[in-house]
Amino acid sequence: MAKILVQRPDISYFYPLPIVLVSCVDEAGKPNIITIGASSVCSAHPPTVGVAIGVRQYSLGLINFTQDFGVNIPTAAQLWETDYCGSVSGRGMNKFEAAGFTPQPSTIIKSPLIEECPVSMECKLIHTAHLGDHDWLIGEIVAVHADDAVLEPGERLDRAKTDPVFSFWGEYWSVGQKLADWHHALREKERMV
Ligand SMILES: Cc1cc2nc3c(=O)[nH]c(=O)nc-3n(C[C@H](O)[C@H](O)[C@H](O)COP(=O)(O)O)c2cc1C
Repeated sequence: MAKILVQRPDISYFYPLPIVLVSCVDEAGKPNIITIGASSVCSAHPPTVGVAIGVRQYSLGLINFTQDFGVNIPTAAQLWETDYCGSVSGRGMNKFEAAGFTPQPSTIIKSPLIEECPVSMECKLIHTAHLGDHDWLIGEIVAVHADDAVLEPGERLDRAKTDPVFSFWGEYWSVGQKLADWHHALREKERMV
């Protein structure tokens, strides 16, 4: 393999990115949504997730005010709404109304969730890392709301039914083929000896 040293290192080589819709609310109670590609799980116990939000984003001020946010997983069927919420600012408009989404009251946090998304998580902001043009916000998941229809027994998500969206180099992609189960390498190695 002849690898070259890429001239300008950047984050675009870390792929694909799962797309989530982060919901929040302003002081007057107007809800907002920001589309986020830079998101990840952080720890399992306690369950935490991280999202990178640009320091100039309107949503960042809202989240810093309430100290919480919702993480909603859109389906591929909600691609238009997802793209729209990442293309316009909620500064002078109500993105819930414009995208046709319904604010679902949370049980613990102040930020609302998105009723139409099959999975929504209530997150309390527990840590912020100031890294440069984006802040990395870590939220503890304090409640999860999931549509029965996308859950398998044991409350596991049914991958096909959730049909999540990923981004790769400015394009939206859905999940491809299953390749194998985790730790298949160990099982195959055992079979070889
Ligand atoms: C696919 C996609 C992914 C995005 N990912 C991020 C992200 O990770 N962080 C971020 O700050 N903005 C991201 N954006 C841009 C914001 O969603 C966009 O600037 C939005 O209009 C900000 O909304 P607000 O002004 O209401 O806060 C993304 C946009 C799209 C379309």
